[in-house]
Amino acid sequence: MKKLIVANWKMNPQTLKEARELFNGVSKYAKKIRNSKIVVCPPFVYLGFFSKNQILFLGAQDVFWENPPAGGGSYTGEISAKMLKNLGVKYVIVGHSECRQLGETDEIINKKIKQALKNKIKVIFCVGELKRDEGGEYLQFVKDEIIKGLDRIPAKLFKNLVITYEPVWAISSSAKSDKAQFNADTPENAREMAIYAKRVLVSVFGRIARNVPVLYGGSVDAKNAASFLNKEGIGGLLVGRTSWNAKTFGELLKNIS
Ligand code: PGA
Repeated sequence: MKKLIVANWKMNPQTLKEARELFNGVSKYAKKIRNSKIVVCPPFVYLGFFSKNQILFLGAQDVFWENPPAGGGSYTGEISAKMLKNLGVKYVIVGHSECRQLGETDEIINKKIKQALKNKIKVIFCVGELKRDEGGEYLQFVKDEIIKGLDRIPAKLFKNLVITYEPVWAISSSAKSDKAQFNADTPENAREMAIYAKRVLVSVFGRIARNVPVLYGGSVDAKNAASFLNKEGIGGLLVGRTSWNAKTFGELLKNIS
């Protein structure tokens, strides 16, 4: 099965010109890749410009949890699953820790996942602990996130579900200077967590959930990407900062091909 490599641009870049350059640059590198599917998730405002690309799959970074009723959608500032679908969006990230930190609850995440799946958009559902404690409480934390996020979602929709294990402490951050700090999990731990997430899924939702891919995210770069993907049970990668530059992301793609 092909690995899934997801580029999360977050709130970057700041101009359409740069976004086009980045997208076209990534496209060029991606053209040569056979063993992976590459999903690029730009900010909403750029999505419409990239609808026609044949090489990359288009993803969004968020979706609203309600479709507009017949009378129209009175939700200022929100973007519906139908709008995304109309632009050729195939994937959406839901439950990213940066959205959770801004107030997104498990309940909201659950509604967003339902809405996206109902509209046949594949969901990249992010879970991950804030810190890893020696007593193993983080395992329960991740389990709760999975169960609450998927509450009462028919398992037959899981064919369009992808889980990303992304420990929050491992996400790259900017230090006070401009230099980013990378602090990835070890591939071995990530593998264990991927197996754990799958076990939780199967125990709660049944065997139908066994095919849900589990990705790893958090400080993935060109150097460490292959070591994660070589672990059995890791179905792909969610890449933030390294994907904001066509050259560094291209290098990553080269190293895993
Ligand atoms: P990072 O971000 O690769 O910069 O750590 C990953 C993410 O937050 O999705």
